[in-house]
Amino acid sequence: MTDRDSHADTHWTAIEQAARPALAELFDAAPDRLEKLTVEEAGLYFDFSKTHLDDVLVDAFVALAESRDLAGRRDALFAGEIVNVSEGRAADHPAQRGSGNPDAVALARGLHARMRSLVDAIESGALGDIRHILHIGIGGSALGPKLLIEALGGSDSAYDVAVVSNVDGEALAGPFELFDPAHTLIAIASKSFTTGETMLNAESALQWMREDGVADPFGQCVALTANPDAALDFGIDETRILPFPESIGGRYSLWSSIGFPAALALGWEAFERLLEGAAAMDRHFRLADWRGNAPVLAAFADLYYSQARRAESRAVFAYDERLRLLPDYLQQLVTESNGKPGDRPTSAILWGGVGTDAQHSVFQLLHQGTHLVPVEFIAVAEAGDALDPAHHEALLVNCFAQGAALMAGRANDDPARAFAGDRPSTTILLEQLDPATLGALIAFYEHRTFAEAMLLGINPFDQFGVELGKEIARGIAEDAETLDLDPSTAALIERAL
Ligand code: F6P
Repeated sequence: MTDRDSHADTHWTAIEQAARPALAELFDAAPDRLEKLTVEEAGLYFDFSKTHLDDVLVDAFVALAESRDLAGRRDALFAGEIVNVSEGRAADHPAQRGSGNPDAVALARGLHARMRSLVDAIESGALGDIRHILHIGIGGSALGPKLLIEALGGSDSAYDVAVVSNVDGEALAGPFELFDPAHTLIAIASKSFTTGETMLNAESALQWMREDGVADPFGQCVALTANPDAALDFGIDETRILPFPESIGGRYSLWSSIGFPAALALGWEAFERLLEGAAAMDRHFRLADWRGNAPVLAAFADLYYSQARRAESRAVFAYDERLRLLPDYLQQLVTESNGKPGDRPTSAILWGGVGTDAQHSVFQLLHQGTHLVPVEFIAVAEAGDALDPAHHEALLVNCFAQGAALMAGRANDDPARAFAGDRPSTTILLEQLDPATLGALIAFYEHRTFAEAMLLGINPFDQFGVELGKEIARGIAEDAETLDLDPSTAALIERAL
């Protein structure tokens, strides 16, 4: 055990053994609690005051962060050093928004310029009269662009966009029904350009075009990839391949050419604002003291509950219909990044949904279930809809009421109706939902995930766990009989394949 490890152990012990005052007691004891545990940055207001963080815990976490050299590791991330040690790579997503390593930033600018030229060319009709965009990709190659388009797309986009990820043919059936192949652009998004589901969906989409009489389907096809050679071999014209560096992980890739359909549908200006918003959060993460650093305070709270109070999950609820995909997006970001063994129990499972819907389904468990589930509320002060303001008011009223109820609980003589409260929540309030605030919000989550990983001794940038299933699937598809499969799997294959 190194000195550094043994110091980390001491700090974890201090965190685990710290006194556990209730939230109400914490508010009573510290009149400046709200001031200390709220952060305002880049159009976002973060309220951590309804978590159990207090001076004692924050001090212990700051000491832990120092013993784990969080500042050095953060600087290494931005400097483009090899932080993804298992794969021998940097993690250059911050450079996509102009932050950090100058060489990586220059490369990103060049690739963005290429991307912009293709956006301009399509807008000027160089690929014909494009009205529909069929984006094909999975995981990080789908969730990011889909989130951006759903959150910011509104109803006045010049293009209908469908993001298809599942290999189930049902997923393609909808766009095939709605879109006119002659006016459709296919965007094949795959970092590796080898992912089975994506390649099969891409083949089927090209076939759909051919069958409808499109003479040159590849002429309406773009590739977004870190493996341009494979895209070339597949048949995509070199001028319509938008590469991005291998050093950008799939779940961190929406800032790169993977964001192409969003740049096209939302407009280049909007894509630039998105990058600027993320860059503002990068600056905050780099420069703010840990005690006022939003991603770091959030990571402290996450770790307090997952490590000291053994909370196995945490839940995120977007109180805004436009952000309905955010919990799914964050689930990939957090679980694929930090669902690994490190020096401590793995980080909490992220799940969630949309408010107010979720109040009428899962919130019962949050109020009275015996699991401890820290909750995160995300809301937007300015309404997204143009309906009667009563709608947006009702949305926010419900959001704030839930946080208050989780903390307060209810006293009642009847034990079935009583509940203790003291349940933690965090609230993130955006002034408005626009490309810049969304960029800052996503970057906040990336840095929070990174900070958490560094304190847990995890490499957040690899994902070897998902490879085995892919290998077995390939084997079954090729020739299941040559595999030494368990009896249960063999029987299922026998029945259905
Ligand atoms: O299976 C997991 C994963 O590797 C993700 O990390 C990635 O975002 C997704 O598959 C898709 O990979 P690709 O972009 O290479 O098609």
